[in-house]
Amino acid sequence: MADTAHRKTGVEGGVGLTALMVAAARAIETHRHDSLAQDPFAEHFVLAAPASAHWPVRIQQVPDGDANPLWGRFARYFGLRTRVLDDFLLRAAHAGGVRQVVLLGAGLDSRAFRLDWPPGCAVFEIDREGVLAFKDQVLGGLSATAKAARVPIPIDLRADWADALTDSGFDPGAPSVWLAEGLLFYLPVTAETYLVDTVDRLSAGGSALAYEVKLEKDLMEYRDSPLYTSTRHHIGIDLLTLFDGGPRPDSAGELSGKGWSASVHTPFEFTRRHGRGPLPEENDALAGNRWVFADKPPA
Ligand SMILES: C[S@@+](CC[C@H](N)C(=O)[O-])C[C@H]1O[C@@H](n2cnc3c(N)ncnc32)[C@H](O)[C@@H]1O
Repeated sequence: MADTAHRKTGVEGGVGLTALMVAAARAIETHRHDSLAQDPFAEHFVLAAPASAHWPVRIQQVPDGDANPLWGRFARYFGLRTRVLDDFLLRAAHAGGVRQVVLLGAGLDSRAFRLDWPPGCAVFEIDREGVLAFKDQVLGGLSATAKAARVPIPIDLRADWADALTDSGFDPGAPSVWLAEGLLFYLPVTAETYLVDTVDRLSAGGSALAYEVKLEKDLMEYRDSPLYTSTRHHIGIDLLTLFDGGPRPDSAGELSGKGWSASVHTPFEFTRRHGRGPLPEENDALAGNRWVFADKPPA
């Protein structure tokens, strides 16, 4: 990622602003009559930040409604992603017996507050300091109560973050579930490789990981995709300049090499499964997106 994207550490600009974009999408999804995921906190984040206070939080506030590439199709993508990853995390906690959840690049993810976690669960949230400070300020103003032990960890994921996590009470001896949602394409290849190595090193048998990646050709081939141009036009976020431009590692392959079983899916598979969400289009920024689910076998 261009270093300018990291100069601002809160939600007011750079990559932090993307957390507000996803929050706005989740607010819109929440208010849909056929919503796939409910996030009652999302609109509060959007309305609290000067940078996004004028953004829509309901599709009815968008003049061209679902025809708008950003607030229609792209927002529905984020709604679908939220639902699929909610299901993944809850399955690990309830069926898999995992009690440690780590959200990497947590942004304004409110899962610690809105999902029904089993007793004894801890949710570790890693993001940059300014983003987590804004999040705490908004949630504090709402007197929101977490449904798990929530542990914010303000640190840059390009640094060595493993000690910060274990110093915060994470136990590498117990199974864990990890999520990198909307994160890896902003990180340099070295940080992604470190992340995968660290997740593997700190994961006991029976742990699970889900993450989102973009195939490299996406950046080159879909430069003029309506999703990118609409995001730039409506809210001034130029995703292409925020993405790290370097070649991407084969993280699914690396995990397989470490003994994990990994499966790679297009988002469109989940659209078909849920009966709602984006389907393939011409010149589509989503064509290169993959959702990867990986399990470390029990010891
Ligand atoms: C698109 S948002 C996604 C947030 C959240 N996972 C979600 O889906 O709602 C990307 C998040 O990654 C965080 N991020 C990007 N680069 C980071 C870095 N080097 N260290 C820590 N967090 C980072 C940003 O601050 C932002 O909150």
